[in-house]
Amino acid sequence: MSDKAGVCLELRDDVAGIDQATEILCAGGTVALPSETVYGLGADATNALAVQKIFSAKNRPTGHPLIIHVENIDSARFFSNDFNVVAETLASTFWPGPLTLLVKRSSKVIDEITGGRETVALRVPANETFQKVLHAFSQVGSGAIAAPSANKYGSVSPTTAQHVLSDMGNLIDAVLDGGNCVVGIESTIVDCTVDPPAILRQGAITLELVNSALRHTGVVATEEFTGESRAPGMKLSHYAPVATVKLFENKDALASYEEQCVLNELSFATILGHEDRELYARNLYSLLREADALQPKEILVLLPEPIDIGVAIRDRLFKAAAPH
Ligand code: TXA
Ligand code: MG
Repeated sequence: MSDKAGVCLELRDDVAGIDQATEILCAGGTVALPSETVYGLGADATNALAVQKIFSAKNRPTGHPLIIHVENIDSARFFSNDFNVVAETLASTFWPGPLTLLVKRSSKVIDEITGGRETVALRVPANETFQKVLHAFSQVGSGAIAAPSANKYGSVSPTTAQHVLSDMGNLIDAVLDGGNCVVGIESTIVDCTVDPPAILRQGAITLELVNSALRHTGVVATEEFTGESRAPGMKLSHYAPVATVKLFENKDALASYEEQCVLNELSFATILGHEDRELYARNLYSLLREADALQPKEILVLLPEPIDIGVAIRDRLFKAAAPH
């Protein structure tokens, strides 16, 4: 579908749109798809050329592995040699949903997906539109969709079709508009290949939820923030707007910094977020994008409390604020 470069089809969330998205996947093209977390840039995970198009559209280093999205646990098992008890338990508890499992790969996984690693990341998304595409694609194609977040490498993830179009509309074949993503931040990643299992990226499924699901197995998962080595792409500066991001633990500190900015004639935009942390997560990337569009020197952000999904919001904000 490379002859279509520059023209991005805008597909609606209806039968014709799902059919067209599926056709593009079958033909080795790229389609941005709505998920419950963020929009993903999808391509056939079993087609090396299609997968390469994802890397070039995103300008992402090819060593950074991709998540394979599948319709159900059975399809996930097909891509793993060792879908162990931890993976089975977490998959049956949280799928479909915002959880990605890192497991040993099977020979069915191509090297382009894993960057040559022996592990593969798998997820069954909960978004109905994504599920319809997965279902249709498993009837006529591989049923496996590789999809990183549909943004340029290192920048803010998209949670609307409009975000995708403005970031990479000229670089992909189509975007399927499924409205706003309900969770708003990327899936939790659990490495099931290590003992104890480790959370490599925070998300809506917290460590507490993971451990309550695992309780009957006697296994206790931990958190790991090694970043670069284990899960490339989780480098410090990520999810980053153009403006410098400054973080504040409380409103008073933020207000006095605002006063200083006014005195020093420094342009700024402020994000207070929402007390409701789920709503904060849902709107986080839109708020960052809107603030950045004002082209301020600095974006001042009030951090949520590190409770529930607040932990993941803070993780993204710390990365957005890291020097880049
Ligand atoms: O919510 C999500 O997970 C979204 C939606 C579209 O599903 N996808 C997403 O993909 O956030 P991406 O590529 O932006 O982030 C996936 C992360 C990357 O940091 C990547 O390095 C890591 O998962 N990852 C994928 N496969 C891996 C592997 N085999 N070993 C270690 N890390 C892996
Ligand atoms: Mg990403």
